[in-house]
Amino acid sequence: MLDSGINKVHDETRQGEAFAPFALDPNQYSKRFYIESYGCQMNFADSEIVASILNQQGFGATRNVEEADLIFVNTCSIREKAEQTVRKRLHDFRRIKEEKPGLLVGVLGCMAERLKAKFLEEEKLVDMVVGPDAYRSLPALVEEAGSGSRAINVLLSRDETYADISPVRLDSNGVTAFVSIMRGCNNMCSFCVVPFTRGRERSRDAGSILRECTDLFQQGYREVTLLGQNVDSYHFNDDIHTAPVTFANLLESIAQISPLLRVRFSTSHPKDITDDVLHTMARYDNICKYIHLPVQSGSTRILQMMNRTYTREWYMAKVDRIREIVPDCSISADIITGFCTETEEDHAETLSIMEYAGYDYSYMFFYSERPGTLAARRYKDDVPEDVKKRRLSEVIAMQNKLSRERNRFDIGQTYKVLIEGESKKSKDDWMGRNSQNKVVVFPKGDQPRAKGDYVWVKVNECTQGTLLGEIAVEQPDEQALVTA
Ligand code: 5AD
Ligand code: SF4
Repeated sequence: MLDSGINKVHDETRQGEAFAPFALDPNQYSKRFYIESYGCQMNFADSEIVASILNQQGFGATRNVEEADLIFVNTCSIREKAEQTVRKRLHDFRRIKEEKPGLLVGVLGCMAERLKAKFLEEEKLVDMVVGPDAYRSLPALVEEAGSGSRAINVLLSRDETYADISPVRLDSNGVTAFVSIMRGCNNMCSFCVVPFTRGRERSRDAGSILRECTDLFQQGYREVTLLGQNVDSYHFNDDIHTAPVTFANLLESIAQISPLLRVRFSTSHPKDITDDVLHTMARYDNICKYIHLPVQSGSTRILQMMNRTYTREWYMAKVDRIREIVPDCSISADIITGFCTETEEDHAETLSIMEYAGYDYSYMFFYSERPGTLAARRYKDDVPEDVKKRRLSEVIAMQNKLSRERNRFDIGQTYKVLIEGESKKSKDDWMGRNSQNKVVVFPKGDQPRAKGDYVWVKVNECTQGTLLGEIAVEQPDEQALVTA
């Protein structure tokens, strides 16, 4: 695990103690909610929708659980360990509840969807159970739970995108923000519980995405990350145009809001990312040169069992295409070790595809069987846990080697960095990211600069996860500072 957290075994214990930035006067609320988020970026974005809905109902956010009238836990089901962490937290909250009659606890998100009424019936752990498509019903559910009724809504929707709800930015640095562009997933990777917990894929109204990004820019934000389980399959039909808006079209229109607004996106499925998207990235300096391209395994046989719909060779050709069209692009991946029937040869193929792709970093996991998934129904989880973990440590060692190599290549280069805030380690240093999504730390220097400014930084050293540099004396292209 690295200091910047960049190259990590996915941190599902990341305990987002989310709180509102109090854009509205906090004293205007007589009641308070506390929300904790686990899992993917999408969950963190959903908590901001929930915060907006609760604000409308007169609940203000608090970061102090003790003063809360409502506690919500936005949960993740992707691996068993993620669920265990949440369960432990729910037990903590039940103890708080015993001391404070009237306090209501709700479970939101993927675990709510997966376990449904079980939470209310067998375990009596919580008062409310709300699935990812049911947040609009929160006000009614809070009322029902308050009057002692069963409060549950886990209906999945074919069209809910919360398009009209303006998220309340929680725990925000005021510079970077997530924007959901679609929900659900139609892919049915055999190991994955997401299609069951988040439902069918649907794309959000392009106009509302554009408005949200424009508003963010006007409020001073300088980077948006477009979120979806599979952004490349975004398509939206409006009443005006005959052809649907594709992801490449959407990316381009957001890039055109201002050259000073950076655009990122996640996640790309290797089978769906198109040349059109790659050419759009290459055309706009402010579309960040970074692609998260989960590989999952390097073995064609395993990929087939995973239902990933591409082969090892096909993935490698996609990497070649990225390098050809966007030569300065960084690539990261998700990797699973020890999937059903995986042999040492399959595992060796995963290690070799990592070397081929030269990932800048990866999120690495060992396989965790999830009830109800295709793999759980079809295949035996037959790789012993110690083998899964040993293979995972080999994958991590390979990634560490690749990250070091990639970072060493950055030494001596000058990058445009968007300042996100002070470095955690020293208030004399700024912390930001380059277009390739690498964390860059550098001394503030004499000139006054602020969060949200772009600055050229020359990289002098690196740790495994962070580039260390100094403000470049000679700016490579002064104009570019203004025009992004
Ligand atoms: N076991 C281990 N890792 C999983 N992922 C999804 N489902 C599982 C599972 N059952 C990983 C995949 C995915 C990432 C978000 O989580 O690598 O891309
Ligand atoms: Fe899960 Fe595959 Fe969909 Fe990703 S693309 S959410 S891994 S089913």
